[in-house]
Amino acid sequence: MLGSAAGGGVPQWNCSCANCQAARDGKVQKRTQSSIAIAADASNLFLVNASPDLPLQIQAASALQPKLGPVRNSPISDILLTNADLDHVLGLFSLREGGPLHIHASVPVRATLENCLGLTNILGAFCGIVWHEVHFEQYGSLPGDYRRIGSASGGALQYRAIMLAGTPPAFAKQSLPNEVHSVAYQFLDPQTGGRLLVAPDVAALNDELCAALHDSNAVLFDGTFWSPDELSALKPGARSADQMGHITIQRSLEFLKAAPARTKAYIHLNNTNPVLAPDSREGAAVKAAGIEVAYDGMEFEL
Ligand code: MLT
Ligand code: MN
Ligand code: ZN
Repeated sequence: MLGSAAGGGVPQWNCSCANCQAARDGKVQKRTQSSIAIAADASNLFLVNASPDLPLQIQAASALQPKLGPVRNSPISDILLTNADLDHVLGLFSLREGGPLHIHASVPVRATLENCLGLTNILGAFCGIVWHEVHFEQYGSLPGDYRRIGSASGGALQYRAIMLAGTPPAFAKQSLPNEVHSVAYQFLDPQTGGRLLVAPDVAALNDELCAALHDSNAVLFDGTFWSPDELSALKPGARSADQMGHITIQRSLEFLKAAPARTKAYIHLNNTNPVLAPDSREGAAVKAAGIEVAYDGMEFEL
């Protein structure tokens, strides 16, 4: 885990809510925004999402830093996007000093980034992008045959995307609402058979996501909000969790508790979320369900 908070992080620059103030006072753990790193081996790391504070996250994680060798190098191999929200893509602009970025996304997510943010155009003037359309039914390899690095046997990891209901980002009004604007990813380590589900933007459960939840050894799940009107209670006029495409922890706690995975954690935590406070009853309920509240630098093996 590089960073664990939703857009804005904890504390958010302009927020004086109880959690953000407590984070400034050292009483709630600070959190950078939502990105995850998956290591197949030391020279093949994959990111799920690229949050705006990605350079700081890389500074905090030696495994993500350049090794001795050519003056410019990085173990970051590919980046997989769950959606086109700014908190998941702005970090891509900060990776422009390297070679072409291998970015995996659904067709509508790519279209949003190209048409509304000019991502391909802008990065085309620097590193360039090699786009990969995500695999939905069959597992695909990471990195694929398009770019084997390291030893022939090393680095192989399998992944597939799971379609989720989700609206396009606020800046992409012309996108069609019924396209695939949000996906979860399931990773499979063929050497151990371990499976990891990464799902930071879940509007609602569907059959495929349920099946993956019950078929994963580790689950990182949307923990943006505890309750539906958490944000509007602090920021009048703000959208509800539902309108923002996030199932609440109040709704997900029971089915996540029942999932057989050994490691379960809430990710993409908004700074308003009461589970962040160390002594809250909401945090205690999550702990009692056998689920962790993810934190920056959290690590586990699959
Ligand atoms: C979300 O997860 O709902 C978005 O990050 C909201 C935003 O982009 O501000
Ligand atoms: Mn977000
Ligand atoms: Zn706050």
